[in-house]
Amino acid sequence: MSKIAASSAPLKRRIGKPKTAVAKPTPKPITGDLSIRPVRPDELAAVIAIDALVTGIEKRAYWNSLYRRYADAVATGQHFLVALRGTEVIGFAIGEVRDWEFGSPPCGWVFAIDVRPDARLAGVASELLKAICDNFRRVGVNKVRTMLSRDNTLILSFFRSQGMMIGPFIPLELDLDA
Ligand SMILES: CC(C)(COP(=O)(O)OP(=O)(O)OC[C@H]1O[C@@H](n2cnc3c(N)ncnc32)[C@H](O)[C@@H]1OP(=O)(O)O)[C@@H](O)C(=O)NCCC(=O)NCCS
Repeated sequence: MSKIAASSAPLKRRIGKPKTAVAKPTPKPITGDLSIRPVRPDELAAVIAIDALVTGIEKRAYWNSLYRRYADAVATGQHFLVALRGTEVIGFAIGEVRDWEFGSPPCGWVFAIDVRPDARLAGVASELLKAICDNFRRVGVNKVRTMLSRDNTLILSFFRSQGMMIGPFIPLELDLDA
């Protein structure tokens, strides 16, 4: 009998859960209609509040500047979408088409996606990503990219669940104070 076959314990129990596993909370059903559309000026406060809740830092000036650059710029490939349950903002996604960045043909970039903690695991982020990708497709873009922090296993699990894979670029950085 081989060493592997000698153990009667199921493989999953013997090796345990991976250290990076994200504990998956109980799904919250979405009550009321879910809609996805471009953000409106009076919804920016809700976006800032969700970001502050998720990241622990309130960045009002940053969001105001992002709003000015993205909210009315659909014609040039920028998208700032919100997800609403009824009239309540429960999530947002921001992305844009970038032309020939890093020498690559025009492609869509998603650089922010957040769902309010009490509205997660009900498909909201999936719908936001789908809506932003539909916008990219409409202008003939057939690739979407994103960048994430390597310890953010939650966002990694989400993007992997949507079929995203490691891309061809390597991020590099330099500490300019050194
Ligand atoms: C990641 C995030 C956007 C997902 O939002 P969501 O609305 O809960 O996502 P969905 O319900 O559409 O989930 C789609 C899939 O993602 C994966 N996923 C989502 N949350 C997960 C979790 N907690 N654990 C494991 N997988 C998860 C699952 O595969 C899920 O599909 P399933 O429910 O059929 O298993 C949300 O958790 C969030 O806002 N997190 C903080 C994001 C963040 O760190 N932003 C800063 C960088 S931009």
